[in-house]
Amino acid sequence: MIKKVPQSAHQLIDQFGRTVDYIRLSITDRCDFRCVYCMAEEMTFLPRHEVLSLEECARLVKIFVSLGVSKVRITGGEPLVRKNALWLFEEIGKLKNLNELVLTTNGSQLEYQANNLRNAGVKRINISLDSLDAKRFKKITRTGNLDKVLRGIDAAKNVGFENIKLNTVLMRGVNDDEALTLVKFAIDQSIDISFIEEMPLGEISHDRESTFFSNQETLKLLQNEYPLIASAETTGGPARYWRVANTSTKIGFISPHSHNFCEHCNRVRITCKGELFLCLGQEDKIDLMPLLRDNPHHDQPVIEAILASMAIKPKGHDFDLHRAKPAVIRFMSHTGG
Ligand code: 5AD
Ligand code: SF4
Repeated sequence: MIKKVPQSAHQLIDQFGRTVDYIRLSITDRCDFRCVYCMAEEMTFLPRHEVLSLEECARLVKIFVSLGVSKVRITGGEPLVRKNALWLFEEIGKLKNLNELVLTTNGSQLEYQANNLRNAGVKRINISLDSLDAKRFKKITRTGNLDKVLRGIDAAKNVGFENIKLNTVLMRGVNDDEALTLVKFAIDQSIDISFIEEMPLGEISHDRESTFFSNQETLKLLQNEYPLIASAETTGGPARYWRVANTSTKIGFISPHSHNFCEHCNRVRITCKGELFLCLGQEDKIDLMPLLRDNPHHDQPVIEAILASMAIKPKGHDFDLHRAKPAVIRFMSHTGG
């Protein structure tokens, strides 16, 4: 039975008392990379009409902000390959009650876009970086160019984002020998780095169980080299942070397989198709696109659906590496990281 959830006018509170004040919105399923853990080599992307228009994205974000959401992360796919993406950042950047507009990107377009994004009000960015070896980088991303991404990181540093964080997926036998090199790079650049355990999203070509590299193992490796200080900091997500003593660098460990973060979960995800997913690891969702399109001038039906969705936000996720098929067949590029 679904419990009725009392809602105050400006707050999204679920049936377990968790306040949702953070949305992650994927604005495209497309990407100029084909990272091996994320995509199949041949991907079929959605036709344009099945993807929210940028105007619909802006409208949706505005609605969520009116319901108390104070942090918005724009993801993809690669958000910056979407034509006119900057317009959306500028629109969101103007919203008064929004504290944080942040971006997850593969870095390929940053050398051109960093300055505009900063001016639009993007505070912080996460940039994926799985290798500092050009050949290996190409192998992992299939189409990516390391130099371009490094120039993007430079550009981001130059325009003064409040924070820049690298996101690294370590895979056994692929790039697990680069954990230290990547941390050293982050320290040298005075930026942060997070290690993300590979998640069972989408059917891809490699066997995830054999490449799985746990954060526990990564932490051990790093502790042998650096004095790490556990930090109490949390963003309400599945990340735990450590500070590298005598540096400005923080190291995050994102373990989606552990359950310990679900009770503090403060976020929901919206796919580029306008599906509101209440949990990364569960199928519970509400389709917002038809509501947006059927009610171009009235937000109330959309607001009501979002309020009602709070009753189906699950208690926790359901990832299992050992299952033959991924528990969740969505690709990360649809849902957003
Ligand atoms: N498991 C873990 N991380 C993934 N990403 C994409 N797909 C997966 C997956 N299956 C990462 C990207 C990016 C972040 C947003 O999500 O590397 O850094
Ligand atoms: Fe693109 Fe990011 Fe997926 Fe790589 S992980 S293919 S950069 S969306």
